[in-house]
Amino acid sequence: MQRADAAARAEVLRREIERHDHAYYVLDQPTLPDAEYDHLYRELQAIEAEHPQLLTEDSPTRRVGGKPLAGFVPVRHAVPMLSIRTETDTDASGARAFDARIRRELGLGDEPAPIEYAVELKFDGLAINLRYEQGILIQAATRGDGETGEDVTQNIRTVHCIPLRLRGDVPEIIEVRGEAYMSRPDFEAYNEKQRRLGKATLVNPRNGAAGSIRQLDPAMAAERPLSFYAYGLGESRGWAIPATHSGVLDALALFGLPVCEHRATVQGADGLIAFHSRMRQARDGLPFDIDGVVYKVNSLALQLRLGFVTREPRWAVAHKYPAEEMLTTVEAIEVQVGRTGAITPVARLAPVFVGGVTVTNATLHNETEARRKDVRIGDTVIVRRAGDVIPEVVSVVLARRPRRDLLGDEPLYPAFELPKACPVCGSAVERPEDEAIARCTGGLICPAQRKQALLHFAGRRAMDIEGLGDKLVEQLVDAAIVKTPADLYKLGLLAMVKLERMAEKSAMNLLAAIEKSKVTTLARFIFALGIRNVGEATAKDLARFFGNLDALMAADTDRLQQVPDVGPVVAASIARFFAEPHNVDVIEQLRAAGVGWPDGEPAASVSSPISGKTFVLTGTLPGLARDEAKDMIEALGGKVAGSVSKKTDFVVAGAEAGSKLDKAQTLGITILDEIQFRELLQK
Ligand code: IVH
Repeated sequence: MQRADAAARAEVLRREIERHDHAYYVLDQPTLPDAEYDHLYRELQAIEAEHPQLLTEDSPTRRVGGKPLAGFVPVRHAVPMLSIRTETDTDASGARAFDARIRRELGLGDEPAPIEYAVELKFDGLAINLRYEQGILIQAATRGDGETGEDVTQNIRTVHCIPLRLRGDVPEIIEVRGEAYMSRPDFEAYNEKQRRLGKATLVNPRNGAAGSIRQLDPAMAAERPLSFYAYGLGESRGWAIPATHSGVLDALALFGLPVCEHRATVQGADGLIAFHSRMRQARDGLPFDIDGVVYKVNSLALQLRLGFVTREPRWAVAHKYPAEEMLTTVEAIEVQVGRTGAITPVARLAPVFVGGVTVTNATLHNETEARRKDVRIGDTVIVRRAGDVIPEVVSVVLARRPRRDLLGDEPLYPAFELPKACPVCGSAVERPEDEAIARCTGGLICPAQRKQALLHFAGRRAMDIEGLGDKLVEQLVDAAIVKTPADLYKLGLLAMVKLERMAEKSAMNLLAAIEKSKVTTLARFIFALGIRNVGEATAKDLARFFGNLDALMAADTDRLQQVPDVGPVVAASIARFFAEPHNVDVIEQLRAAGVGWPDGEPAASVSSPISGKTFVLTGTLPGLARDEAKDMIEALGGKVAGSVSKKTDFVVAGAEAGSKLDKAQTLGITILDEIQFRELLQK
């Protein structure tokens, strides 16, 4: 491309990407499918790589790829970054005291007219100053001691909701102040990933934000994604500042900056109190932590009259909520068994009021984490309860750990150990190597897993028992009529009609469906057992390889690994499942009840043009459900995969096919529409 054309095209792409970033990250209203966005982004990257002199300060490609720094450079703030006075009480009196103080300072004691306040949330992150010159982000700095902070521009550029360039009629210079924070979903996702890898987790979103901002390597910062809300101004030049604080925030939103929607202007102390209690209700449902609300005198002229005391403005105050982290002691450590058999250690706590509720249990997530945090009975711990998530033990206060005697440092209680047997059903507890989570192996008999196991067993692609859904499974299990899948085949009309709202007609239908399910295929049966890591495709491979159930049940892990696509992890799950006598018992009962399949599986017809070929289905086909298409392919000996790779032979694409279609095009894989697909199968 000619240099001039390239420059023009790069500019178009930048503006386009900026628009989508704003729609996606600030307005939360995506305007483009991810694949098309990536396309624009890659085109811009390519132009900039070819013409490095075209790379600008505000290019969206700058959000990644900065070089690690040796250290942070100090930045002296043009206007000091103040802090805010805090009302520590969490009831209404804090708001009244603030309003009374303001009225007194302004000499309005007897005037009937209330003061107008701008009210907003107190975000729990890190204060950041963003400096824009001619609308371009040129520097981001931390608060530091208020006079001097640190230059964290590189890391702040990775925060997608912060515009690298302002929109509209921009001031010559404007400094925007606000809070960089880690959202709860981003925090949970990061910790979930760390737990899976058995690595250290973040203590809370605030620490996550601080850690991310203080990374010298921007690539590390980008791994801990942050968000930002603007709440004020620093220096500004060449701009007619609005007369009110709420007006300033409105203007910042128009410049494209993220401003939190949970804000208002209210009148007098009653308005403050109403906002405080309204946001207290909303607090748990917010996607980020707040530790209170902030009240600000709305008129900037009045703010000027009120001025400052030392480092705090007289015109603003923070009004707290109950803390989301508190100290308490561990009374016992027990384990819970989830619906999928996952074993979770749980700390029983001395009751403590955290985040607005009384908490008596907190999760320790898994054995690795419980041991890493080394939580023991008698320990004093920090408990966190924020939002709707389950309370968790954040850390132990080691200095307060009970000791055997006053002099030695031998702890009174031993380190936590996972029980060897499931506390619910007594089956063996197993923790596969390289997995953080231990599980109960009694999948078919464990009461904790019953409902899940039955639903899976009856599922359409498993035993296909029509009419046995959520509600019915719930009732059958709760009434102790059904304990294992084998019990389904012992059901009588009488037991069922006794269930709530069960008409005789539907009971008959269900019995007929159960009867019908007795004739199945080996592959469906294997899938129905719900063996961990054995999905539909693996079940089919196993059925084809072994041909009968006894051979599969007798196979050791070496033999299992001879099955195509079965590796050590899957082989171990299968072997573990059949090693559990309870499971074998249920299988024998099922066979005794008459569940069966014709000997061997139908071998794939060799003459089929698609036998051994791999298909990927994407988008919606006009006249064919995905399951139907899958069945058709497999009946002819083909395979269906979930993602496109070099090994894919055909991609069948329908309406709204997304990134899979793009990838197929890039890899030059044959793409079929429904008609072409049907034609291929006809051959
Ligand atoms: S205004 C002149 N508004 O709280 C007042 N601060 O001590 C300057 N904070 O670390 C601050 N949410 O980062 C203001 N809506 C909000 C805030 C807020 C959180 C933080 C701020 C600083 C501390 C103030």
